[in-house]
Amino acid sequence: MESTIISSQNFNAYFGDNHVVKNVNMDIPKNNVIAVMGPSGCGKTTFLRCINRMHELIPGATSDGKILLHNEDVYSLNSILVRLKIGMVFQRPNPFPNLSIYDNVIAGYKLNGLKLSKAERDTIVESSLKKAALWNEVKDTLHRKGTFLSGGQQQRLCIARAIAMEPEVLLLDEPTSALDPISTASIEEL
Ligand SMILES: Nc1ncnc2c1ncn2[C@@H]1O[C@H](COP(=O)(O)OP(=O)(O)OP(=O)(O)O)[C@@H](O)[C@H]1O
Ligand SMILES: [Mg+2]
Repeated sequence: MESTIISSQNFNAYFGDNHVVKNVNMDIPKNNVIAVMGPSGCGKTTFLRCINRMHELIPGATSDGKILLHNEDVYSLNSILVRLKIGMVFQRPNPFPNLSIYDNVIAGYKLNGLKLSKAERDTIVESSLKKAALWNEVKDTLHRKGTFLSGGQQQRLCIARAIAMEPEVLLLDEPTSALDPISTASIEEL
């Protein structure tokens, strides 16, 4: 049996009285790509946001049941630590508008007060942008603002920012829905 990385057990999520995610039970094996499918409004985004504890940031939003990461309940861990281990890329690209491409990629380290040497930063920026299939397009303009990029490039920048933290789990909430077919193809390839 492959080992399970995320396990959802009798998990429910609510917006006030609106019971949106109903009793989800599933195990997600390590090193697999798993797709969640369902009609608009059925709770896919809400469920993903529960896995890395973003749901609780919305006023009135609650949940019960368990989400385990390696058999540890993420709701018993420090939420910031959970979000370091479980990264997320949203439906719409959201690079930090005032930061350069380079600083966007390592933003997670800066925001969490994790100190890196210049050489470490350079290595992480290059390898993350290569993994996100964006390096060749931006390697000569790393110090320009990320918002100069096209939508597809911005989304790949957000993927690079997420993978720079080497998360154990990456939640992708329809990251290609706002993109053209060519950008979609390069993200699917990634
Ligand atoms: N911030 C919010 N406050 C209150 N209700 C919300 C909020 N976000 C979502 N909902 C409600 O929760 C339900 C599930 O929404 P969710 O965004 O999880 O659906 P989805 O499956 O991701 O849909 P889509 O395919 O359109 O992205 C919907 O009925 C929606 O109205
Ligand atoms: Mg959604």
